[in-house]
Amino acid sequence: MSGTVNLTELREGGPQDLADVSRIMADAFDPRFGEAWTSAQCMGMLSLPGVWLVIASLESNDVGFALARSTGEEAELLLLATRPAARRRGVAGALLRAIVAEAQARGVSQLHLEVRSGNDAVWLYRREGFEKVGERKNYYRGKMGQAFDAHTYARELR
Ligand SMILES: CC(C)(COP(=O)(O)OP(=O)(O)OC[C@H]1O[C@@H](n2cnc3c(N)ncnc32)[C@H](O)[C@@H]1OP(=O)(O)O)[C@@H](O)C(=O)NCCC(=O)NCCS
Repeated sequence: MSGTVNLTELREGGPQDLADVSRIMADAFDPRFGEAWTSAQCMGMLSLPGVWLVIASLESNDVGFALARSTGEEAELLLLATRPAARRRGVAGALLRAIVAEAQARGVSQLHLEVRSGNDAVWLYRREGFEKVGERKNYYRGKMGQAFDAHTYARELR
């Protein structure tokens, strides 16, 4: 954070935030890589047991979100995004730490995630204690049909 004050505010989200989440996602993800979800996919996920959503705002504007799912002792970070105009201000870091705290509160022992090979988010994940545990070839399919590998990261929570 190098001297910056982190003014990120976090709140729990729900199905009522779907339009907001979709707007942030459209703004945040580069369509070249095929990492974003559709609104229908998000809605379907939000109705599943164990799924939770955290919304981040700066100066009362919603600028980021994280979506995760826990199943027993494991949890997965499904999506993490910050609007381009709000980046490098600690928003995603705050969201990720909130996901970790909630997972710990749920008794989760391992939090894992998939990230496209070459995504800058890897710097954040490594900084927050995640380690690479695997690779999935051709996991993402870009807008023009290109395939991109995913790397799997995990962090032990206890
Ligand atoms: C990845 C993403 C969520 C980071 O959001 P952010 O709010 O800018 O992240 P933070 O400000 O909390 O950054 C935390 C740290 O991550 C690292 N980091 C973030 N973006 C980086 C970049 N472009 N290059 C290098 N390091 C980066 C840095 O260590 C940074 O700390 P610093 O700013 O003090 O150096 C954002 O760029 C994004 O929405 N990308 C598109 C969606 C995506 O790919 N999501 C992840 C896969 S689901």
